Amino acid sequence: MENNTAPERKKRVLSLIQPTAVPTLGNHLGAFKNWQSMSEDYDCLFGVADLHAITVRQEPAALRKQSTEMYALLLSLGLDPDKSIVFMQSHVPQHAQLCWLLNCYTQFGEASRMTQFKEKSQKHADNINLGLFAYPTLMAADILLYQSDFVPVGADQKQHLELTRNIAERFNGVHGKCFTVPEPFIGKAGARVMSLQDPTSKMSKSDPNPKASVSLLDTPEQIMKKFKSAVTDSEACVRYADGKDGINNLMSIYSCCTGKSYEEIENEFAGKGYGDFKVAVAESVIEELRPLQENYKRFINDTAYLNECMAKGAEKASRLAQRTLDKCMKKIGFKQI
Ligand code: TRP
Repeated sequence: MENNTAPERKKRVLSLIQPTAVPTLGNHLGAFKNWQSMSEDYDCLFGVADLHAITVRQEPAALRKQSTEMYALLLSLGLDPDKSIVFMQSHVPQHAQLCWLLNCYTQFGEASRMTQFKEKSQKHADNINLGLFAYPTLMAADILLYQSDFVPVGADQKQHLELTRNIAERFNGVHGKCFTVPEPFIGKAGARVMSLQDPTSKMSKSDPNPKASVSLLDTPEQIMKKFKSAVTDSEACVRYADGKDGINNLMSIYSCCTGKSYEEIENEFAGKGYGDFKVAVAESVIEELRPLQENYKRFINDTAYLNECMAKGAEKASRLAQRTLDKCMKKIGFKQI
């Protein structure tokens, strides 16, 4: 029998990442690892948030280099640039355009309440610029331009997503439906990876102790060394339990990289010391990152390919973005020609 029903549009997921440092194993196991399978089930956009990066002063050559590297890294995750849209934010002028419009629908008071703004104002007290204040409205523009249904966000970005929802609802309330109101994307539970030196705090790319975090581009030797010096406890028994933060963290990483359950891991290392376990964890991480690192080495030296993908991403993103921007401008009352 003929099927007359139009296929339902896949839900759209959007995520951008700032190009300011090489991401860690924490970013990978907590988010990136799922992006390839997410891109099978959803209509996905992935972007490098280079416009956001300049809310803090950047050295021009470094910004250019890091943005390109982050873009190459996104491709290295196995995202298909023909299927998903992989783009550089600054290549799509509609982001800045919509940001301005949304600034006029955002209250000074609500932007002032953003914890990240308050934190960054303290950290960069000599450069509290208007862009830093408008950071969340630029993020709202990123999301709303594409009528995104879901946004995978970490805890630190929840407040910005909540603000985005408020702006969208307010605009729709004043002018009639223009924007999809986005929801947080709750994907497969990724691992929450902790610091290798202080397993009670999250692994962070800005940790001053280089032994605390594993970068996605660390060599196998560096990875092995960092796991060998990971902080554990004195019990010398591989088991998941309260108070064993270091071992719990290593077990969670190992489980994520190998697919083994905690019980299987406890059996595998019964009667063995932490030394053997640490080596096994490091090896599983090296294997986990190998395909990504191989792809990265290929892409980062292939400027022609990167440029081609960026151009394709910008073209596709900008086509979608323009539709929303036109609709929004018309509703506000701008004269169209
Ligand atoms: N602010 C986000 C972060 O620092 C990055 C970002 C910019 C983003 N625009 C976005 C994330 C849109 C999700 C959706 O992590």
